[in-house]
Amino acid sequence: MAEKCLLVTGAAGKLGRWLRPRLAKRFGRLRSTDVAAFPAIDGDEETAVVDLADRDAVEKLVAGSWGVVHFGGISREHTFEALMESNFRGTYNVFDAARRHDVERIVFASSAHATGYTPVPQRIDGNAPHRPDTLYGVSKCFGENLARYHVDKFGMDIACLRIGWSIPAPFDDYGRQIWLSYPDLQRLVEACLTAPRFGFAVLYGASDLERGWWHNGHAPSIGYVPGDAAEAQALRSKVARSFGSVPEQRWQGGPFPAMGYRDRSYVHKYDPPPPQVLALIAQGQAEAAKPPARKAGAAKKAAGKSAQPPKKPVKKTAKTASKR
Ligand SMILES: NC(=O)c1ccc[n+]([C@@H]2O[C@H](COP(=O)([O-])OP(=O)(O)OC[C@H]3O[C@@H](n4cnc5c(N)ncnc54)[C@H](O)[C@@H]3O)[C@@H](O)[C@H]2O)c1
Repeated sequence: MAEKCLLVTGAAGKLGRWLRPRLAKRFGRLRSTDVAAFPAIDGDEETAVVDLADRDAVEKLVAGSWGVVHFGGISREHTFEALMESNFRGTYNVFDAARRHDVERIVFASSAHATGYTPVPQRIDGNAPHRPDTLYGVSKCFGENLARYHVDKFGMDIACLRIGWSIPAPFDDYGRQIWLSYPDLQRLVEACLTAPRFGFAVLYGASDLERGWWHNGHAPSIGYVPGDAAEAQALRSKVARSFGSVPEQRWQGGPFPAMGYRDRSYVHKYDPPPPQVLALIAQGQAEAAKPPARKAGAAKKAAGKSAQPPKKPVKKTAKTASKR
């Protein structure tokens, strides 16, 4: 039987290209895939150009793999239709095929945009509720929920990484707050692939987990320890004091929540409510003001009770006394 491989989706992407040679060095045989063409690395790697929305093609890709690093998909805000195919359907196809082929572990690239409407500077961990800031963020929330479902129902191990911004070096104040260095990304993915069984886990992908907006204190068993924390903290200390003063900085999703954002005072025109709703409110208030009517059934029951002869005391025999 051929040796099982580690499947990497999003192989032609920025993070996939950086991770693949390193994952191959650590874990051996890779199968790498993307919808875009890409060159193979030097090493033990099969490559395949596949659209993740193609269920049959994904089925073939997943067969024979021991784990999946699922990084493929649209990595920014896009139309619902495009996200539907690449992120919603694509992620479903990967997880579903993984379940049917007994793949026990998946590392899924979620995003901090799953909680992008969390206000700055609230500090949260992977238990924080979803507050997606875009349809892209919604697609990552879907992936996280799909992961939870596969773990609870089928007993898989799936780690969802709410990645901040993984780039070689952050170039603005927002980036300095949420930076995940490339070596820390590798540490995080490898920790998830090698940790003892954990079931479901959501971890933030950042290099500064001590002073940043995010921490992974709820998931110590995964064993992710950033190696570039000092550098990330030094970068954070350079963030301008005025950070947070414009809409693009009010929430943890940075510019994403601000895209197409409309102030609630403009959107909410429910005062006064429409006449139909006002009528229902008045009806509800009138009902509440009425004295409580005795229910017919309850009155009958009460009358019946009083008409019944009093119960005879039961004599205790050996049989009834032993019953409990
Ligand atoms: N880079 C970051 O800072 C960051 C932050 C948060 C989350 N993420 C997530 O990490 C993953 C990788 O990010 P990246 O920066 O390398 O993005 P990227 O856009 O460079 O790479 C994503 C890859 O997925 C491929 N892809 C898209 N639709 C596909 C489909 N239908 N079938 C097959 N492949 C498809 C693209 O061709 C691309 O090569 C993405 O899922 C992204 O959402 C990245």
